[in-house]
Amino acid sequence: MARHSKFLMAALLVVAATPAMTQENLKSVWDGVYTAEQAERGKPLYAQSCASCHGDRLTGGETAPPLAGGAFLSNWNGLKADELFERIRKTMPQDKPGKLTRPAIADMMAFMFQVNEFPAGKEELSTKPEALSQIRIDGTKPAGKK
Ligand code: HEC
Repeated sequence: MARHSKFLMAALLVVAATPAMTQENLKSVWDGVYTAEQAERGKPLYAQSCASCHGDRLTGGETAPPLAGGAFLSNWNGLKADELFERIRKTMPQDKPGKLTRPAIADMMAFMFQVNEFPAGKEELSTKPEALSQIRIDGTKPAGKK
């Protein structure tokens, strides 16, 4: 085998291995990605900043869409937690966007996840984009999860 083709083979192996490794780190919202205490902290924050439009029970209002249940989950199905985080951070509350702190957003998302009946776990939902981008929002529980 010519020397350059060996090099090419090695390069191809690296490329082939990379998606598999990324895949392994990828979690689902069904893996327990927030804690019950965090959701408890998020609840009053949501009530204060979001409920007036999205409803106390996240069912939506006259103009604001629901943040729990079928329509919400099908909008976000397959997207990552960092995309939801950024959507909230940049555009919500709609009448006063850009003022929420990262910990407040993570806590409110934990509360939203709880209302959507995703299970709580041992680790808090992170405020870091790199960690959040490893969490996939699955609208329905993937086969094989507890
Ligand atoms: C003044 C009313 C109002 C408040 C307060 C408000 N929202 Fe919204 N929200 C809306 C409206 C209207 C939309 C849809 C139009 C848009 O995207 O701007 C929306 C859309 C959203 C979406 C996208 C939903 C989807 O399925 O695409 C999310 C997520 C969201 N809001 C989260 C929040 C959170 C979290 C808070 C509290 C920090 C909040 N909103 C506060 C009015 C509001």
